[in-house]
Amino acid sequence: MTQEAMIVFDNVSKIYQMGEETLYALDHVSLQIRTGEFVSVIGPSGSGKSTLMNIMGCLDTADEGQYLLGGLPIEQYSEDELAKIRNRKIGFIFQSFNLIGDLSAEENVELPLIYQRLPVRERRERVQAALEKVDLYNRRSHRPNQLSGGQQQRVAIARAMASHPDIFLADEPTGNLDSHTSMQIMELFHELHEAGHTIVLITHDENVARQAQRRIRIRDGKVEEAATSDPYGDRPAGGNASDPYGGRPADEEVAR
Ligand SMILES: Nc1ncnc2c1ncn2[C@@H]1O[C@H](COP(=O)(O)OP(=O)(O)OP(=O)(O)O)[C@@H](O)[C@H]1O
Ligand SMILES: [Mg+2]
Repeated sequence: MTQEAMIVFDNVSKIYQMGEETLYALDHVSLQIRTGEFVSVIGPSGSGKSTLMNIMGCLDTADEGQYLLGGLPIEQYSEDELAKIRNRKIGFIFQSFNLIGDLSAEENVELPLIYQRLPVRERRERVQAALEKVDLYNRRSHRPNQLSGGQQQRVAIARAMASHPDIFLADEPTGNLDSHTSMQIMELFHELHEAGHTIVLITHDENVARQAQRRIRIRDGKVEEAATSDPYGDRPAGGNASDPYGGRPADEEVAR
């Protein structure tokens, strides 16, 4: 490993007791994600993707095993401490955007910064920079229902960016979008990655998943395939007519 591990799962399980039945939503998962990696997590519905993301994002904790986020042993922290870690370190992006309906785009982006008690001037600078980055500064006064789905997701990405998180966690960020709009959203993730950010993107769409540097497959709570080889090569240049994400990478399937 040349770069430090941002995320380390060591035999992590999440267990639900449903009457007689014990369900392993995550079943002894071990994986590592390095600082600056762009990883996709792909698996069918119910395979444990959101459970994995919730634990990565400190929204939930492991029942067994250990999770280290930037070296911090997450299950040893209190709820309050976890909330602070989330605010500081994680930028969440969800399928349904999760914007607040009666706030404008810029107010949505600013809100987490208010929770973080940043001074007003710094908040304004960050909000403007983030909205410019997603090319929506001119729509800053629009409320979510005055924006398209793709625009709403770009506001949500700006909101995540404004906190300067260590890692972006996206759960089906293109799940509600058409393929053209999905491509624009994926373009933003590529830009974030190229700027050095760590990204974990959950999807059940192979076309989306294969744009990441590395794919982690999950099925029945088990990670089937987590590349340990070094799959990093340059993304191929140029497009492919049959590929709606033309020009974006179709890296080799890893760890076969
Ligand atoms: N609170 C809960 N109580 C009991 N079982 C749960 C709970 N949350 C999740 N599960 C179960 O854990 C498994 C994994 O769920 P999870 O939401 O992680 O799947 P997913 O891969 O994100 O699916 P989807 O693609 O449909 O979003 C499922 O079988 C689900 O029914
Ligand atoms: Mg899910």
